[in-house]
Amino acid sequence: MENEKKERNSFTGSLGFVLAAAGSAVGLGNIWRFPYCAAKDGGGLFLLVYLVFALTFGFALLITEVATGRKTQQGPLTAYKFINPKWGWLGIFSFVVPFIIYPYYCVIGGWVIKYMITYIIGKGSIAVQDGFFGSFIAGSWQPIVFTLIFAGACFYIVYRGVEKGIEKYSKILMPILAIIVVFIAFYALFLKFTDADGVTRTGLQGAKIYLVPSFKGLTVRGFLRICLDAIGQLFYSLSIAMGIMIAYGSYMKKDVKLEKSVNQIIAFDTGIAVLAGLMIIPTVFVFSGMDGLKTAGPSLIFVALPKIFNSLGIFGYILGALFFIMVLFAALTSAVSILEAITASLIDKFNWSRKKSVLVMSAATFVVSLIVCLGYNIWYFDLTLPNGSVGQILDVLDYLSNNILMPLIGILTCILVGWVCKPQTIIDEITLNGEKFGRKWLYTAMIKFVAPVLLFVILLTGLGII
Ligand code: PHE
Repeated sequence: MENEKKERNSFTGSLGFVLAAAGSAVGLGNIWRFPYCAAKDGGGLFLLVYLVFALTFGFALLITEVATGRKTQQGPLTAYKFINPKWGWLGIFSFVVPFIIYPYYCVIGGWVIKYMITYIIGKGSIAVQDGFFGSFIAGSWQPIVFTLIFAGACFYIVYRGVEKGIEKYSKILMPILAIIVVFIAFYALFLKFTDADGVTRTGLQGAKIYLVPSFKGLTVRGFLRICLDAIGQLFYSLSIAMGIMIAYGSYMKKDVKLEKSVNQIIAFDTGIAVLAGLMIIPTVFVFSGMDGLKTAGPSLIFVALPKIFNSLGIFGYILGALFFIMVLFAALTSAVSILEAITASLIDKFNWSRKKSVLVMSAATFVVSLIVCLGYNIWYFDLTLPNGSVGQILDVLDYLSNNILMPLIGILTCILVGWVCKPQTIIDEITLNGEKFGRKWLYTAMIKFVAPVLLFVILLTGLGII
């Protein structure tokens, strides 16, 4: 036990921590969900609301988790116990959520690998054929094999440890991802297309729809809807309430400036999301008009975008390959963070070695991944969820974690930190080295009052009550 404690992994410094945490935050949510929400909710207005919430609500929850990890030096399963001995049970929730998310995240990661390979070998034209996506995910063995490849890569990185695995790969993958996003976003601005009706649309027009706030027909109800969408997106995008940031915080050195690092993570995550919007909205608008922009969900990147790449000829294949490489990097660094969160929990709870923990967790989650894959095959069903959407096993797991468990953990964390052990516990950790904490009052107000109320509304919406 003593050895394990002495050898606790750590990030080498501030940059390693920020890039790894940004790697977790930047994921599929930034690439398909953020642009879609922005388009639906009046472009620039959504961006503005999102930014305000990111710097207040998002900031408060994120810094609470990172500080909890660094203060307790524990993974999510055991960290709460060290904050307050009576609240240890909250750790179980924080352990269960990533355990539910990881298996289906690996399945989607497998889909991304399939598309990436299809483009790299120059077969992009097959990817646009009707039914390509549907018949691929319903296949009996291909989705399982690609899931295995993706999960294998995550296993390898987490097995290598925090510094030689997670930090090292985040430092390589995140800058490449940022460069590709900037490149494609810039390219999208110059697209131009005339459709069958003779209407010509340009990338710049698309960018305008995305960036300029539209107040046309805006009602109070509509504005509240935008606020709720922004908070929901933020919550998912910053990887909050999954124990991940507790695990990463526990590997942070005590001399790293906490507030500054958290600001940098938020800036990175929001920056990539905004750029992803600049890449996707104009592209989809140019080729499919306003109707195309309404396509939501995973199908946007797996069905709508391939059509666009196909219409660009040879250059489209290169763009498509680059795009899916980027999505793969985003998904990989996020998945790695989830696996790390559950691995860290086992290491701290049972004093297992990293190797044993990651092996056991990988094996257990792969069984669930298998079930998710078969949910499109022999175990196919259509289930209507309380929030009205219809889905298969993957959607049920997603609903359970994102709409129910995560807001619940958020609320409980606010009660614990805001009322039971008081915000000062976290503020002390943030100002450990005498740093000034400028947003102290804002933080206290958020964690005690604003955040729990907002989260409660999100939970009620998820349950279909409002
Ligand atoms: N934050 C990630 C995103 O924006 C999503 C994620 C979910 C990451 C679960 C880790 C764990 O896509």
